[in-house]
Amino acid sequence: KPCILFGVPVQEGAGRLGCDMGPSAFRTAGLATELINLGYAVEDRGNVVPAPLRELRHENGAIKALSETVAWTEAIAEAAYRVSGEGMPIFLGGDHSLSAGSMTGLARRAAEEGREFFVLWLDSHPDFHTLETTTSGNLHGVPMAYATGRDGFEGYFPKIHAPIRPENVCMMGIRSVDPAERKALATAGVTIHDMRAIDENGVAPLLDAFLKRVAEADGILHVSLDVDFLDPGIAPGVGTTVPGGATFREAHLIMEMLHDSGLVRSLDLVELNPFLDERGRTALLMVDLASSLMGRRVLDRPTQSYRHT
Ligand code: ARG
Ligand code: MN
Ligand code: MN
Ligand code: MN
Repeated sequence: KPCILFGVPVQEGAGRLGCDMGPSAFRTAGLATELINLGYAVEDRGNVVPAPLRELRHENGAIKALSETVAWTEAIAEAAYRVSGEGMPIFLGGDHSLSAGSMTGLARRAAEEGREFFVLWLDSHPDFHTLETTTSGNLHGVPMAYATGRDGFEGYFPKIHAPIRPENVCMMGIRSVDPAERKALATAGVTIHDMRAIDENGVAPLLDAFLKRVAEADGILHVSLDVDFLDPGIAPGVGTTVPGGATFREAHLIMEMLHDSGLVRSLDLVELNPFLDERGRTALLMVDLASSLMGRRVLDRPTQSYRHT
């Protein structure tokens, strides 16, 4: 099946400008060529165009660019829904608000196919604010709350056809959580492996347990990779760096295990801000990680099988 690339130059959800250049940087860094070298057919469908703007007002005066973010979400969800099943969609962000659209569009299709939808969320942030609780007003901080069907998005964001079960979400790399998010996550049912859990256990057993659950449910797995999951020392090209992130080897191991699992059906690459990058190194690292996820490996080795027989 082909890899299907969508550029999503949304930047209004982030606190600073520049993510609109992300899709160009991923293309310049050679993502398509890497995928072709791995043996895939690649279809670059160009950039998603936002739906027409509607005027929207919310009583939380901190919120920024609500109309724009909603317009993007509508278009991205539609693109994700339409493409799902045709191949492996890869969404080139763009800030993380794009996942409000990609996750809900893909989850809708999975529900129609009677498949359980799972998300691996690789990020320093849970992005679990609602429109009521965000204090920064940056809507890249809300996509997971929206996609899991938390209250308060109705009448603003597109109606959700199939909310993602919080139990089907696994977050890794978390190390920056706002008070309202922390409170909501305490009872939400999301699995969260913060950096302490990674330090104590290593990424492999944590991810292995989640992949086994996905396989048990015969589920479909979506991966959402925020640049700030990575340590700022190796990935400076992002507006929301948080110290103490995943290392090069941890990130590649996760990608290699994901490939071996055979469970991944779609991918978001988000929050790359080329204006803040150093000679493209963050873009190149993200492309490198995507290559590992798609099967690049150092040596042939027996792979762990997660599928039931
Ligand atoms: N929790 C913070 C906020 O709501 C940071 C969100 C960062 N999100 C991201 N996708 N980088 O403003
Ligand atoms: Mn994020
Ligand atoms: Mn983040
Ligand atoms: Mn079983």
